[in-house]
Amino acid sequence: MHFKTLEWRAGPPGRLRLLDQTRLPALEVYLEIEDVEALHAAIRCLSVRGAPAIGVAAAYGVVLGAERAAALAGATREAWLGRTLEAAARLESARPTAVNLAWACRRMARLARASYDAGAEPRAALAALEREARAIHAEDVAACERMGVLGAELIQDGFAVLTHCNAGALATSGIGSGLAPIYHAHAAGKRVQVYADETRPLLQGARLTAWELAREGIPVTLITDGMAARVLSEGRVQAVFVGADRIAANGDVCNKIGTYGVALAAAAHAVPFYVVAPSSTFDAAIADGSRIPIEERGADEVLGCAGQRSAPPGIAVYNPAFDVTPARLVTALVTERGVVPRPDGPRLAALFGRGA
Ligand code: MRU
Repeated sequence: MHFKTLEWRAGPPGRLRLLDQTRLPALEVYLEIEDVEALHAAIRCLSVRGAPAIGVAAAYGVVLGAERAAALAGATREAWLGRTLEAAARLESARPTAVNLAWACRRMARLARASYDAGAEPRAALAALEREARAIHAEDVAACERMGVLGAELIQDGFAVLTHCNAGALATSGIGSGLAPIYHAHAAGKRVQVYADETRPLLQGARLTAWELAREGIPVTLITDGMAARVLSEGRVQAVFVGADRIAANGDVCNKIGTYGVALAAAAHAVPFYVVAPSSTFDAAIADGSRIPIEERGADEVLGCAGQRSAPPGIAVYNPAFDVTPARLVTALVTERGVVPRPDGPRLAALFGRGA
């Protein structure tokens, strides 16, 4: 990849360097994150976004919080643990839908508590937390690679694929989830091109997917969201590849708003609909998609576009940031542990085990 979505600079004090995705594609600028509040704000405003990326970023954010707690003059073990757990809870609250965020924060909080219970002093516990954040990061990079290898087998030479939102390197700390098979197919010498939905209201497809694919030399054609059904009906694409923010125990897939419509149109035109996501996106505690918390964002995102107001004053707005695609519309789920055709409860339980 020609860019780094996030990078940890070890300390103390550590720093998290984030490519500010709100500024792309016009500007490639980086944020230097030094504390929990700055990271919370960066996650909320989508400077860093995409389910796996916000999980990895938050893991490092817990390290920042734990470092700060350890540096406080006269910090007791109890005070350190309390502040570190507060940092994890604060980061988890930044966005509700992508389960990777809660998964990473809880994993870090569990380790902080276990270190405390084992009698570790803050400095030693901090070192363990940093190792854990690096492990979460490395697991994500490896998962992306593996999903790329497995998913590339679904792409034949000459394929065009449709994607929605951004499930690429910008959405993970590796080469992406939904776009990873495309990168691998391209690297293996297959000719592959991508139709990218622009993804209203925040234009992750136009601003981010088009930017990163073009930078990596993969032919990309931008369409508005309303054109996806037309493109599918015309037989222009042979497969759809998307990522996920949370997958329920029964296989229902929550992803960026508009994904459900793409899945319905793909089914209507017998185009395979593939979901690519690491196991950290699977939520065994949620029985089905109807229980997934859907983030609602501010009206301004819908009332205008790219900073320009486009609606008349006084108009009511509804702005759910995600939707749920029923498992029956998913041709296969590609994970780092394997490919699950027609995912359902028993197949996912067999792959992930209980409580994965
Ligand atoms: O609101 P965003 O930009 O964070 O939404 C991101 C998505 O919906 C992605 O498709 C999803 O996180 C999968 S990315 C690997």
